[in-house]
Order: sequence, then C-alpha cells, then structure tokens
Amino acid sequence: MFKLFVQFLCATTFASAVVASNIFIISPQASSTVVAGSNVIVEIGDLQPKQTNGTGITVDITPCASASECPGVSQGTGQVLYSGPYIAEHHNDADAVYQNITVTIPSSLSGAAQLGVSHYPLSAGGDSGLPPLEYTDTILNVVASN
Ligand SMILES: *[C@@H]1O[C@H](CO)[C@@H](O)[C@H](O)[C@H]1NC(C)=O
Ligand SMILES: *[C@@H]1O[C@H](CO)[C@@H](O)[C@H](O)[C@H]1NC(C)=O
Repeated sequence: MFKLFVQFLCATTFASAVVASNIFIISPQASSTVVAGSNVIVEIGDLQPKQTNGTGITVDITPCASASECPGVSQGTGQVLYSGPYIAEHHNDADAVYQNITVTIPSSLSGAAQLGVSHYPLSAGGDSGLPPLEYTDTILNVVASN
C-alpha cells in the first residue's frame, strides 16, 4: 500500500514537473501502419509558434510488447531516428506551424512501436545531454515490407 502511494506521488511529481507540451505529431496519425525499412515523414506541429531557431528536435522509436503496453511518454530514449535543428515554420498548406522530418523506420521492427518527438534547448537535440523542454509520442503499427 505504501509502495503504491509512493509510486503515485512520484508519478504526480513527475507529471507536474513536465511543462505542458506545445508540440504534437500531426502525421503519422496514431495507430497508422508504417512499413519497416521505409521512409516516413514525421510532421511536427507546434501550438505555440515561437522563436525555435537554435533549439533541437529528436525523433525516436521504441518497440512495444503490444499497442497497450508501450512505455509511455518518450524522452528521446528509444532508438534515435533523427536528432538535429528544430525549425518550426509556417507553410502555406496549413494554419499550424510545423516541421517535416523524414525518418527511416528500422527494418528490424515489427508490431506496435512508440514514436517519440522531443524538443531540446540546443540544436544537437538529445545529443546535447540536456533534458527535453517538451515531448510527445504516438503509437504506430509496423509491418514487414513483403
Ligand atoms: C531561423 O532560421 C532560418 C534558417 O536558418 C532563417 O531563415 C530564419 O530567418 C530564422 N528566423 C529568425 C526569426 O531568426
Ligand atoms: C509535409 O509533409 C506532408 C505529408 O505528411 C505534406 O503534405 C506537406 O506538403 C509537407 N510540407 C512541406 C513543407 O514539405
């Protein structure tokens, strides 16, 4: 019982320590099917258009035992698919400010996987070793190419 309470406290403290995320994954949509080994455009929207030059973004992926057994909020700790400058810009085809990042889905993956996007204070992204400013994730279904 005490242990449960402590876990609850930790979860609550952790949740309140995390700044509300303004970034969100427009595409691929949750539960989308993607092909292992293929290139996928990760379209990252930002609810709070702000000066993002000089900051970084990391896209990572983590296999899950099943769609309901993903590790939860990612912080760039899965297999890193992209880490580099975050340049959220306005494009004429959408109201939302966004950045497209093309990543290759690892060919070794199959089944449910959690795609994470983490925004870091420096352009090196997760490689900077600093904690992320905000992060979000979505769950995909990875299938083999044949
Ligand atoms: C952000 O960086 C881009 C690309 O380097 C540049 O074109 C743009 O002017 C910069 N924006 C600001 C507000 O500095
Ligand atoms: C970003 O990717 C989407 C597809 O996910 C595409 O419709 C859109 O045109 C792309 N935007 C740019 C600026 O390349």
